[in-house]
Amino acid sequence: MKKREFKYDIMPEIKSRWSPRAISEKKLSDTDINAILEAASFAPSCFNEQPWRFILAKDTAALEKMRTLLTPSNQLWAGKAPLLIMVLSVKSFEHNGKDNFWNIFDAGTSWGYMSLEAERRGIITHAMGGFNKMKAREAYNISDEYNVISVIAAGYYGNPEELPHDLQEREYPACRKSVEELIIK
Ligand SMILES: Cc1cc2nc3c(=O)[nH]c(=O)nc-3n(C[C@H](O)[C@H](O)[C@H](O)COP(=O)(O)O)c2cc1C
Repeated sequence: MKKREFKYDIMPEIKSRWSPRAISEKKLSDTDINAILEAASFAPSCFNEQPWRFILAKDTAALEKMRTLLTPSNQLWAGKAPLLIMVLSVKSFEHNGKDNFWNIFDAGTSWGYMSLEAERRGIITHAMGGFNKMKAREAYNISDEYNVISVIAAGYYGNPEELPHDLQEREYPACRKSVEELIIK
């Protein structure tokens, strides 16, 4: 396993955050849940439209409803998560009704803020694109005015030995491209 490398003194939460799959069943407090949502709400957005929207699942019935939308491979590890958050975004500007090209960009920033505040509180988060978006629209009566983007699994770190063997082997923080590779010249 290649280890992450940091050349600069960046925020500790950015350095320590990763996307584990070993999530404990232990419930999160409402204070922690509300705090990570507040962090998400303070993301910047085009015209301060705050296009991000969230559907929360934290009690048994709500979790079961959202869990069934996940792909089988995600259900394998996210099935026990005590909190699932579906991230949506409003496609058009409230102030003039025109298409908001930046809505998914802004919702992504919001999820980033959420994940870092969660990390600060010792809570892990793992975003998933692997879920049935059409069924999600039906299940929650989501109109075409919204993009259905992701489901986030959140909770405390659990026991990696309870994961299937192939997922145990992938249970480590992923490395990154170098900054040089990101800059287009
Ligand atoms: C939008 C998005 C969709 C993702 N979808 C999945 C997914 O369906 N299943 C999964 O196990 N991980 C998923 N991931 C997690 C990524 O694989 C992970 O963030 C990436 O490999 C980097 O690893 P790190 O977060 O541990 O640094 C997703 C992440 C994002 C941001």
